[in-house]
This record gives sequence, C-alpha cells and structure tokens, in this order.
Amino acid sequence: MTQPFNLERYLQTTGARINTALDRLIPAATTPPATIHKAMRYSLFAGGKRIRPVLTLAACEAVGGKPAAAMPLACAVECIHTYSLIHDDLPCMDDDDFRRGQPTNHKVFGEGIAVLAGDALLTEAFALAAGDVRYVKELASAAGSRGLIAGQVQDLENENRAATLQEVIATHRNKTGALITAAIRLGAMAGGATPAQLRRLTRYGDDLGLAFQIIDDVLDVTSTKEVMGKSVGADAKNQKSTFPKLLGVEKSRQMAAELIADAHRQLKSFGTRAAPLAAIADFFLTRQH
Ligand code: IPE
Ligand code: IPE
Ligand code: MG
Ligand code: MG
Ligand code: MG
Repeated sequence: MTQPFNLERYLQTTGARINTALDRLIPAATTPPATIHKAMRYSLFAGGKRIRPVLTLAACEAVGGKPAAAMPLACAVECIHTYSLIHDDLPCMDDDDFRRGQPTNHKVFGEGIAVLAGDALLTEAFALAAGDVRYVKELASAAGSRGLIAGQVQDLENENRAATLQEVIATHRNKTGALITAAIRLGAMAGGATPAQLRRLTRYGDDLGLAFQIIDDVLDVTSTKEVMGKSVGADAKNQKSTFPKLLGVEKSRQMAAELIADAHRQLKSFGTRAAPLAAIADFFLTRQH
C-alpha cells in the first residue's frame, strides 16, 4: 500500500530549501545601504508559510521537472508576495501593525524605508526571473496593473460601499489569485509542461487563488491574532467588501470547497507526481493560519 502523502513534512523540507535559496539570492544585511537590506530581510524571513514558492516547485515536479530548475522563480514569487504584504500593511493601505508574528515593516523601519523595501523586493524578483523572457512577462502580468495591483485598487475602492459578489470575486482573483496562478504556471513552464498540462494547471491555480482569499477573509472573522500572526478583524475595521460579509462564513467555506474540488479534477491526468499539489489544495481549505 502506498503511504499517504505527508504534507507537513513536504512543507517543512521544501520551505527550508526555499529559505536557503532566498538567503543566498538576496543581498546580505550588511550590504550598503544596510538599512534597506535589513528591512527587506526583516519581512522576507519573518516566517511566512511559503505556500506560493512551494506551489512553484510542486508544479515543476508535477510535470516531471527537477524542482531546482524552478527555484529562482519560486524565490521571485515569494519576493513579490512579501513586497505586496509590506505595502498592503502601510497606513495609506490597510494600516496594520502586525504581520508574520512581528511588528509590520513600517513600524520598525518607518514608512519611507518600508515603501522602498517593497520596491526593492519587487525589482529583485525580475532579476531572478530574467533567465527567460516568458518568465518576466508572466510575473509582470500577474503583479501589474491588470493583476495584483488591479485587485489592490479594487479592494480600496470597494471600502465603504456595497460591492456585488461578482465584483468581490474579480477583486480576489486579481489581488491574490493572479500571483498564485503565476506561481504554479512558472513552475510548470520551468519543468517543461506541455500546452495541455499548462492549461490544466492554470485552472487548478485559478481555483486555488480564489479559494485562498475566500479563506483569508473567513479567518479574518473566525481566527485570532496569535494563530494568524497578523491582525484579525481588520476587514470589518476597514469596511472591506469580503466573502463572509456578502455570504456569511458557512456559504463562503462551501464556495471555497467547490473550488478545491474543481482543482482536484484538474490534477487527475498527472498521477502520483501531483500528490503534493493535491495535498496543498486540501490545505488551502483546512488551514488555520
Ligand atoms: C497573506 O498571504 C496575504 C493574502 C494574499 C491573503 P499568506 O497567508 O500566504 O501569508 P504568509 O506568506 O504566510 O505570511
Ligand atoms: C492582501 O489581501 C492581498 C495582497 C497583499 C496583494 P489582504 O489585505 O486581505 O491580506 P491580509 O489579510 O492583510 O494578509
Ligand atoms: Mg489588503
Ligand atoms: Mg491587508
Ligand atoms: Mg485579509
């Protein structure tokens, strides 16, 4: 009988590999000007789940590639994600003072350096992806004003107004889904995916991306600061348009579960190589933080 896939161990070992690679690829904290490199590293190594770069490596594995081939791309995705969190927490955005179990970047380094640390991480990501112009384009469209930035703009403009479910779905697909889909697509591309494999993994990514933000909205209502390592109740405080606000907690979870079921269907043809991707899909639903 085959052993059930041990996701906890996979996340631990893969996460450790990602941390080692990031440490090697990002300038040392002593590199002048030290302040900016300290600030970049402060948020990067504060203890994120690394779920996006893990997805990059797992997608590479699912198409039969060697995960090492996708490591710089995995690191690029995590740099963009971390930049987006630093900026998301700024007083002019969500105004949060706690992230990844620590005071937010601007609380420690000041707003000016926090803005620049985000900018520098975003810039660094493109250097890491520069091995192939397809990777650069993939990251640019996911992170840009028709992807993550579009979602952040919609998220701000949906504050203090009654956005429709369709609008909130579009916001979530942009602000969170676009980078998650790109993380998976980049891993698949680096692993030599066929066009049909890439299509299926793109849909898997789109499902996961929306489900991730639905559960993030739910946890903001149901979890605690200690468990999450970030402020909770922030969405209500900022009058955000969220899934639980529109549908309630139960219906929101149900919708996320339907997306995860669809994600599983996309993995059928990949066989056991997609065991990590299948386990991660379930984790998106069951995660407590
Ligand atoms: C938080 O992402 C921001 C969202 C897009 C919801 P994560 O929950 O993956 O945060 P870290 O990386 O583990 O800190
Ligand atoms: C974050 O959404 C999306 C991005 C950072 C792009 P949220 O604002 O809901 O994330 P948290 O809850 O602060 O982590
Ligand atoms: Mg936000
Ligand atoms: Mg926020
Ligand atoms: Mg949130």
